Amino acid sequence: MIDIHSHLLPGIDDGSPSWDASIELARQAVSDGIEVALMTPHHQNGKYINPGPEVIKLTDEFQTLLDEENIPLKVFPSQEVRINSEIITDLGEGEIVGTDEDTRYFLLEFPDNSVPSFTKDLVFRILQMGVTPIIVHPERNTALMAHPEILFELVNQGAISQITASSLVGTFGKAVQAFSQDIIQNGLTHLIASDAHYLPGRKYEMTGAFSILGRLTDYQHVKAFHQNAKAVVNGDSIIRFDETPIKKRKLFAKY
Ligand SMILES: [Fe+2]
Repeated sequence: MIDIHSHLLPGIDDGSPSWDASIELARQAVSDGIEVALMTPHHQNGKYINPGPEVIKLTDEFQTLLDEENIPLKVFPSQEVRINSEIITDLGEGEIVGTDEDTRYFLLEFPDNSVPSFTKDLVFRILQMGVTPIIVHPERNTALMAHPEILFELVNQGAISQITASSLVGTFGKAVQAFSQDIIQNGLTHLIASDAHYLPGRKYEMTGAFSILGRLTDYQHVKAFHQNAKAVVNGDSIIRFDETPIKKRKLFAKY
């Protein structure tokens, strides 16, 4: 499997705290079936700034270490970019490290509890540049939970999205798990990734998440997700699905 979202580089965000932890996470990734992983430290989220050259250098060092330890994992540099007003300028100046070499795709993160009002316009301008933003973990955003039509509009506009594996297996609770299923079944997500951090008790859940995906959809859909992970790393076109608006679930059942 290819994992397009993880925080394995040490000491640069809230992910791995040390090289030892990075190695431990890499071993876990491999035992969960991951062969290729993008290193996607937080960028411009108000707390962390991780410029491209630094991410590239650390990723190279990590690869050397993995090779020395005989851990069969290939790592590539990228970033998880928090939505901000400088994105268009930064993309134009090559300051954003996409998921692929030419930055045809990049990971775009919203704040946990909101979707800024300028998002739709920004996504439009990003798409006009020939770049497709990958909205990360929409299932964990409380504003999208309350207004799932916003996600439909953004994906319908041309954005794509990535669900976090542990959301789908239920690590973040029933509401997040149910919303993940809704997003999948309405064709509004295209990728599953680990978003691995170094958190005791939180495991790699890619295998588990893909088996749930198989139960919710079909073999073709699962295959498309694997192909999409490869496509966003190689800068190729992704497979989209029939997109339908999510019907809001009733928060309280009436008896
Ligand atoms: Fe992340």
